[in-house]
Amino acid sequence: MMLYPNLLSSTIIGDLKLSNRVIMAPLTRMRAGPGNAPTKLNAEYYGQRASAGLIITEATQISQQGQGYLDTPGIYTDEQEAGWKHVVERVHSRSGLIALQLWHVGRISHSKLQPNNALPVAPSAIPAPAATARIPHEDGFLRVLCDGPRALELEEILGIVNDYRNSAIRAKRAGFDAIEVHAANGYLLNQFLSTNTNQRTDSYGGCLENRARIVLDVVDAVVSVFGAGRVGVRLSPNGIFNDIEDTDAEEMTSYLARGFSERGLAYLHIAEPDWAGGAPLSDEFRKSIRDNFKGALIFCSNYTAAKAEKIISSNIADAVAFGRAFLANPDLPERFRVSSPLNEADSKTFYCGAEIGYTDYPALTKDKGNSELEHKNS
Ligand code: PHB
Repeated sequence: MMLYPNLLSSTIIGDLKLSNRVIMAPLTRMRAGPGNAPTKLNAEYYGQRASAGLIITEATQISQQGQGYLDTPGIYTDEQEAGWKHVVERVHSRSGLIALQLWHVGRISHSKLQPNNALPVAPSAIPAPAATARIPHEDGFLRVLCDGPRALELEEILGIVNDYRNSAIRAKRAGFDAIEVHAANGYLLNQFLSTNTNQRTDSYGGCLENRARIVLDVVDAVVSVFGAGRVGVRLSPNGIFNDIEDTDAEEMTSYLARGFSERGLAYLHIAEPDWAGGAPLSDEFRKSIRDNFKGALIFCSNYTAAKAEKIISSNIADAVAFGRAFLANPDLPERFRVSSPLNEADSKTFYCGAEIGYTDYPALTKDKGNSELEHKNS
């Protein structure tokens, strides 16, 4: 008997029909090619994981200013758009669905990665005390404390919203099924939401509605391109990653969930605090998210199949996103279906490098697609 009938059942999320509820979580891999464009190797990696109910790509910067780690992909040049088109085609050729996660890191960066070596930008000029950027180094990359940031001018905020719109236009041309707006984990949009990183006194700071404004502006811009049924948002309420200390996170989440619901967004994706050492979300708070948002709800935080089955069957979530497990098991839904042991993820190869620890994790049955890539693509 199959152990995880709910997790492996199909579902509708917005305009998308998922064949199962095992979502591939966004995972930074720092393996983009020249010009931060996706390569054939990246297409192979995503293609191997096409049996996910939905793939959410690694965080992808909307501009060079939005980059905080070397060799992360972008979606603001023709080369990047063309690279992503190959990725999407590979996933679609295997009947998969793929959403692009749009990212701006804000203060989690370093001038070495910024246009003209300028300082990174943020809602306010408040440095991240302990968070790191990842800059080039002869052996791969080096973690260094972030520098800056400087506070964004009001007009620049409008420009960033426009960068999200332009990135969505490119994503649509590349064939993506959906967009995920990354408003989690201490990056730019989370820096606007959070009380410790936003001390602005204009219409983008101060009260909760003002701190939320840029997220809703970005959502509206992306919805104007993709339609609400193909847009989701990732939040990380009570998250502490990247030096976030938000005293108002639960209230903010409820407010945003209602705003997303009014707009008819496809899904809300919650990165739970525990993945980065924060205190777990309470059951009461989970329920309040459910009450405030009528679209699909996805949770993510080191779930096992059993735990995922439980949260879906008790109707707290509609789907669960798996990060490390999907990284190391290209055929994760099939492994859950047959209750197979899982490959272990090797943290030494999470970031940078090529095939090793990326496209060489074995599936249960040999994937013919592996042989399509005969040569290493830089
Ligand atoms: C990371 O690369 O560590 C990373 C990137 C994006 C996230 C979280 C972590 O949302």
